[in-house]
Amino acid sequence: MATILVTGGAGYVGCVLCRMLLEAGYQVRIFDRLYFGEDPLEGIISNPDLELVRGDIRRLDDFPHLLDDVDAVVHLAGLANDPSCDLDPEVSLDVNITATRRLAERAKEAGIERFIFSSSCSVYGRGEVDLLAEDSEKKPVSVYAMTKLTAERELCDLADDKFAPVILRYATLFGPSPRMRFDLAVNQLAAGAIKKRKILVFQGGRQWRPFVHVQDAARACIMSIEAPVGKVRGDVFNVGRDDNNWQIVELARLVKERFPEADLEEVPGDEDRRSYRVSFGKIREMLGFEAKYTVEDGLEHVREMFDDGVIADPEADIYFNVRLLSKLRDMPAVTGGEPTSARFIPFAYPSIAGGEPASAHYLPFVSPSIGEEEEQEVLDTLRSGWLTTGPKVGRFERQFAEYVGAANAVAVSSCTAALHLSLVAAGVSPGDEVITSPLTWAATANVVIHQGATPVFVDVDRSTLNIDPALIERAIGPKTKAIIPVHIAGLPCEMDAIQAVADKHGPCVIEDAAHALGAQYRGKNIGTISEFTCFSFYPIKNITTIEGGMITVAEEGIADRLRVLSNFGMSKDAWKRYSKEQPSGYHPPEVVYPGYKYNMTDVQASLGLHQLEKLAGFIAARERYAQVYDRAFADVDEIELPALPAHLKHALHLYIIILDIDRLKITRNEFIDALRAENIGAGIHFVSLHLHQYYRERYGFRPDDFPNANYLSDRIISLPLYPKMTEKNAHDVIVAVKKIINHARK
Ligand SMILES: Cc1ncc(COP(=O)(O)O)c(C=O)c1O
Repeated sequence: MATILVTGGAGYVGCVLCRMLLEAGYQVRIFDRLYFGEDPLEGIISNPDLELVRGDIRRLDDFPHLLDDVDAVVHLAGLANDPSCDLDPEVSLDVNITATRRLAERAKEAGIERFIFSSSCSVYGRGEVDLLAEDSEKKPVSVYAMTKLTAERELCDLADDKFAPVILRYATLFGPSPRMRFDLAVNQLAAGAIKKRKILVFQGGRQWRPFVHVQDAARACIMSIEAPVGKVRGDVFNVGRDDNNWQIVELARLVKERFPEADLEEVPGDEDRRSYRVSFGKIREMLGFEAKYTVEDGLEHVREMFDDGVIADPEADIYFNVRLLSKLRDMPAVTGGEPTSARFIPFAYPSIAGGEPASAHYLPFVSPSIGEEEEQEVLDTLRSGWLTTGPKVGRFERQFAEYVGAANAVAVSSCTAALHLSLVAAGVSPGDEVITSPLTWAATANVVIHQGATPVFVDVDRSTLNIDPALIERAIGPKTKAIIPVHIAGLPCEMDAIQAVADKHGPCVIEDAAHALGAQYRGKNIGTISEFTCFSFYPIKNITTIEGGMITVAEEGIADRLRVLSNFGMSKDAWKRYSKEQPSGYHPPEVVYPGYKYNMTDVQASLGLHQLEKLAGFIAARERYAQVYDRAFADVDEIELPALPAHLKHALHLYIIILDIDRLKITRNEFIDALRAENIGAGIHFVSLHLHQYYRERYGFRPDDFPNANYLSDRIISLPLYPKMTEKNAHDVIVAVKKIINHARK
C-alpha cells in the first residue's frame, strides 16, 4: 500500500487526516515537531502502519531518509494563523516558505510526484463581497497569508510532468480534533457559549469568512491524493462549502440560536481587515468533492466534546497556537524552548529512540587522506626495485628534521619502536623506573616493561588530560631513569616544568609525541625540546606512512646509535672503532649490540614524503572543524572541553570531549553506541592503563590510585576530526551529540 508522508501529522488537521489514511489502508509517516505533544496521536501511535519521525521542518537535512519509499507528501506543517506568524516574521518565512520549498525540492528529487500543500483562503485577504474563485485577485493582509501565497507560487513553479503540487486553500477550520484548537472562530464561539455563557463578537463582526469542517479538510486531502494526477497537477482548489460562508455577526447569532442561554457580547477593537467570501465550485466540479458538514454540525460536534468531558478548560494555553508558541519561544532551550536556531536540534529523536540517524552514511571515526602524489611515489618505489630502507627513508628523515626544526630525525617502523629505542639509547635497563602518564596508549608503558624496567604512573591534570607536572617530583626515586610525557590528543605537556624536574634529578626526557606532530610549546616545535621525541605515522595520526615512526634528537651521535639499534645493532662503521688502520676492500657490517628490526621501508617513506608536504593543510582543516565543534559545544552543559592554555599550540590529532555522565541517564559506552546508531564513529583515548588487566594484576593498581585518569577514563570520547571530512559531516556529528544528550539528559 502507498506510503504517505504527512508533515504536521500531529496537528489539528494532521491527526484527523492520519487516522483516515490509516483506515483507508495507507501507510503513514508523520513528520512533526510534536510541539503540542504526542497525545493527539493516541490510539494510532502504535499502529504498525504508522511511523513517527520527530523533527523540525526547518532541519530537513537532518533527516536524509525522510522521503525514502514515500509515494505522496501532504505538507501540513507550518505556522498556522496570523498571530503565530506575527510572533516572529522571519521564523515564519523560514517555516512556511523556505522549508516548504526545500521539502518540495527534495520530494521532486526523490521522484515523488504528488505533493499536497495546505494553504489558506486568507490569501484573498481584503476580498470583495462577491464569491472569490481560485483565480480571483489575492490581497493578503498578514504575514501568514503572504507566506502561504508565496509558498503556493514557489510550489507551482516546480510543477512539471514528473512533479504535481496540489494547493488546497482551506477555509477557516472548525470541528473536533484530537489536537483541539479553540483559537478558531466556530470552536471558540461554541466553547465560550458553553463554558462562559458568552458569545464574543470580535473586530466588528461584519467581516466574511468561509468555514470548513476539519473532517472535510482531511477528506479533501485524500481526494487530492487519489484523483487522476492530470486533474490536479499544479492546480489550486478552495476547500469548503458555499453555504459555510458567514459574516461573523451572523455566525454569532447562529451560535446564540444553538446556545440560547449564552449572551452575545461585542468586543471593542479594530475592524478586521480581512473579509472574504469564497466559492467552492471548482473542487466540486473537478474532483467531485462535497464538504459534508455545515457550521451548525460543527457547533453540535463541539457541544458533544464538552458533553463527553473531553475538554476541561477551553481557555488552556494548549488550545491556542500563539500562546503555546510564544511560551516555547521564551523558554530556555534546556527546558524545551527554542530561542536560537542551534537549539532546534534537540527536538529530533536520536536513532536509539527511533529517530533518523544524524548521518545518512557511516562517518568513520577517522579516515586517512592519501592522494595521487602518494600513490605515484609508492608506485615509483615499487618499480625501482629498492623496497626496504633506502634513499627515500633518508630523504624523509631530512625533510622531517627540517620541518620540525630538529637537528636529526631517525625513521623507524612505529612510534612504539621509537619509544623502545629511545629507552635503550637512554640506557634504561632492568630494575630502573620510568615515569609516565597512565592515560595513554599501551605502547608508552609496554616498552618500559620490554626493557625490564618499571613504569611509574603519575596522575594527569583533569583539564588538559596531560601528566600533572606538580606530581612528578614526588614519584622520582633513585631508580628513575626517564620521564615520558605524553602529549595527549596533540596538546603539549608542560615541558618547562618537566624539564626542570628532570634537570634537578637527572632522568632523561623522552616525549611521546605520537599525537603531537605540528604542536608547539611556548613557540617551540614539539621535536626540538627534549633529548628524544617520538612521533607516530599510524593511519589515524596527523600524517601516515601506514605504520611508521620517527625519533628526533639533537645529538648526531645519538641519532647514529638509534639507526644502528633499529637495524639489528649492525654497524657498517664498526670496523672504524675496532681497527687501528684504515683497511681497504670490503668489510661486512658487525653486530655491536643485540639490536632490533625497527627500520622504516622506502615504501613507507614514499607516503611520508608527500604527507609531510600536506601537513600544514591537514592541520588547518583540523583547526577549522575543531572550531566548528568548539562553538557548537560551548553552551552544552553536559560537555566539558579540555583546556587549551594560551602558550600551547594544539596539533589537533584528536577532538576529545569530556561527558558529564552524572547528568546523563546513559554511560559513556552507551553514548558511543548511540553515536554509532547515528552513523557516527567515535573513539576513546584512552582508558587509563592502570585499569587494564595486566597492569592491575602485575602492579596491584586500584582505580583511585590515579583519580583523575580514573575519572576521565569513563567520560572521554574522541569525535571524528580529520581533513577528509566535510562541514556537513561535522554538522552531523554535532546534531548526533546534541540529540543524544537531549534524549539522555536526567
Ligand atoms: C600516545 C601514543 N603513544 C604511542 C603510540 C604508538 O604508536 P605506533 O602505533 O606508531 O606504534 C600510540 C598509538 O596510537 C599512541 O597513541
